[in-house]
Amino acid sequence: MAAPTITLSNVQKIPVLGLGTWQGGDDPSSVEQAIRDAVDAGYRHFDCAFIYGNEKEIGKAIREKIDEGVVKREDLFITTKLWNVFHKREDVVPACIKSVKNFGLDYVDLYLVHWPMAFTGNADCLWPVDKDGNPLCGDEDYLDTWRGMEECVKLGLTKSIGLSNFNSQQIQRVLSVATIKPVMNQIECHPRLNQKKLQKFCAERGIAITAYSPFGSPLRPWAKPDEPQVSALESPEILKLGKKYGKTPAQIILRYLIDIGTIPIPKSSSKERIEQNISIFDFKLTPEEIASIDALDRGMRVVAPELFMKHKDYPFNIEF
Ligand SMILES: NC(=O)c1ccc[n+]([C@@H]2O[C@H](COP(=O)([O-])OP(=O)(O)OC[C@H]3O[C@@H](n4cnc5c(N)ncnc54)[C@H](OP(=O)(O)O)[C@@H]3O)[C@@H](O)[C@H]2O)c1
Repeated sequence: MAAPTITLSNVQKIPVLGLGTWQGGDDPSSVEQAIRDAVDAGYRHFDCAFIYGNEKEIGKAIREKIDEGVVKREDLFITTKLWNVFHKREDVVPACIKSVKNFGLDYVDLYLVHWPMAFTGNADCLWPVDKDGNPLCGDEDYLDTWRGMEECVKLGLTKSIGLSNFNSQQIQRVLSVATIKPVMNQIECHPRLNQKKLQKFCAERGIAITAYSPFGSPLRPWAKPDEPQVSALESPEILKLGKKYGKTPAQIILRYLIDIGTIPIPKSSSKERIEQNISIFDFKLTPEEIASIDALDRGMRVVAPELFMKHKDYPFNIEF
């Protein structure tokens, strides 16, 4: 089963479902089998990032599938992200070149600014911290970073550029200087944080939304044992719809995210769940069912790194 595509503001097409590749396990090679299984299951969209440390392994598995003739490069949509220590304008193109080389490809389809916040640091120090473990904040303005992102498009290193974890004010600032507009904002989005306001804001400006952590990132490394479950995988509304459609709770959540206009990127390392997560294009939720899931929103954010909260560009200090 393949995912249908939608057209971005620059007329590039993107499949409405992708495979997440963060937390692929301690061993970066574990992601290779997930990529092979996903290509075989019909996935054509892969969400990656330099900081996940597995671009080489992902590239290896993708190139194998291209060499085997299973898929063509032009049918794939590969996203990766600029890490926070490379926000100086002159560091952006070299960082993008490094990622493209890691994949062993000629270009990526979408390059995102991973976070609005710059860190000090460099390629040898991706998580710069002081003696108390606090991150060392850089003062680079992400508008300068954006100018570097535009150069990546002009050099053919990426087809499109976009943002991740940017709030509405930060997006507006980028739009006020952009000569190449962001086509995407990748944000946390699931039934407990459906991001309706930021989605509307972005839609009005021609910016699509990728929904990360669609299941509430249950294995995130900073989860505390006593923290409430965020995923909504067990909520009665979702279970009821699962019964009606003969689908799992995860499939109902992914269908919901697509039906509200976002592009979910669930991560899985299990062949069975990789196949399950893409088997969602044979049903659709009704407006009433969508409204019943909308009502599960609790504003619960799981990817809100406390350590960054004092950064001048921390994105989650305003409503959206
Ligand atoms: N831009 C950003 O700052 C940012 C931040 C976070 C995440 N992301 C992206 O978003 C992707 C997804 O988010 P995430 O990795 O945080 O978490 P997630 O996709 O919400 O959840 C992944 C977890 O759900 C499990 N799972 C997968 N399919 C399932 C199913 N059908 N039923 C039950 N459980 C299932 C997985 O286990 P198994 O592997 O065992 O199946 C894994 O433990 C990331 O991999 C990354 O690409 C981006």
